[in-house]
Amino acid sequence: MILGLLSELGVTIMKSPEGQLCRQDCTASQPRVITMNTNYSKIKCIVMLVLFVGSVNAADINAGKSRAAACQGCHGVAGVSSSPLWPSLAGQSATYLESQLNKFSTGQRANEVMKPIAAGLSDVDMQNIAAYYAGLPPAKSRGGDFNLAQQGKDKAAMCLGCHGNNAQGMGMVPKLAGQHPQYLAKQLTDFKKGARKSPQMNAMAQSLSEEDIKAVAAYLGSL
Ligand code: HEC
Ligand code: HEC
Repeated sequence: MILGLLSELGVTIMKSPEGQLCRQDCTASQPRVITMNTNYSKIKCIVMLVLFVGSVNAADINAGKSRAAACQGCHGVAGVSSSPLWPSLAGQSATYLESQLNKFSTGQRANEVMKPIAAGLSDVDMQNIAAYYAGLPPAKSRGGDFNLAQQGKDKAAMCLGCHGNNAQGMGMVPKLAGQHPQYLAKQLTDFKKGARKSPQMNAMAQSLSEEDIKAVAAYLGSL
């Protein structure tokens, strides 16, 4: 099976009469045959096999793109939404997107719109869709209310330690830069009330007044 996969990728692994593993790279302009005859080379060859098979199992961005046709109406054709309450997904971390789809499907993140949509996706769909959106160019700055954004700037300093210096996010911590301020404010209010649960965010949002939330959301959206 592994050899089959490799030949699809244009790589042939052969065994010489002496039992040595050889790799023939058919994609190179001048086909090369590399003969490996030490144990070390055999180990390297096995590592190479694992890497190739790993890449075959990686997220399928094209499959994610076709599955994402069902999301466009709300999240935008290229993952940049036009409604202030529908989050943009373009350029968001894949790990974070996948985690939220899981949370919607189990109801851990309660949302009537997203629950049935996420529940209709398999784990592989979620992985593929997340990889597709993560690779799209992120939303541009929202501009927005300059004075309000300036008020939010000081408060936002305590957010950037986790969300990144430019609120670009990483891994499980979402990107906030360029997101719709109204969406950000709704999430902060949900965290504050405990309607959306997160060990990192619940206490953080409780320390913010309603005014702080509006200002900090305006600032982050303007980045
Ligand atoms: C009918 C509109 C609608 C459709 C269709 C829709 N969504 Fe959503 N989505 C929303 C809304 C509204 C929210 C915000 C929920 C909230 O306030 O917590 C959301 C939130 C999300 C989030 C969380 C983003 C974040 O920053 O936390 C993800 C991920 C997501 N949607 C993915 C998808 C995917 C993938 C599809 C298609 C399979 C999809 N959505 C289809 C309306 C929609
Ligand atoms: C200790 C790390 C940490 C700090 C500090 C922090 N956050 Fe977060 N934030 C997180 C994590 C982790 C999540 C994802 C929660 C989840 O999985 O639902 C998150 C989620 C969010 C979301 C939801 C985004 C979305 O797309 O739905 C918003 C909005 C947010 N944070 C704003 C802030 C603001 C504003 C501050 C500063 C006042 C802040 N955060 C400080 C870790 C942190």
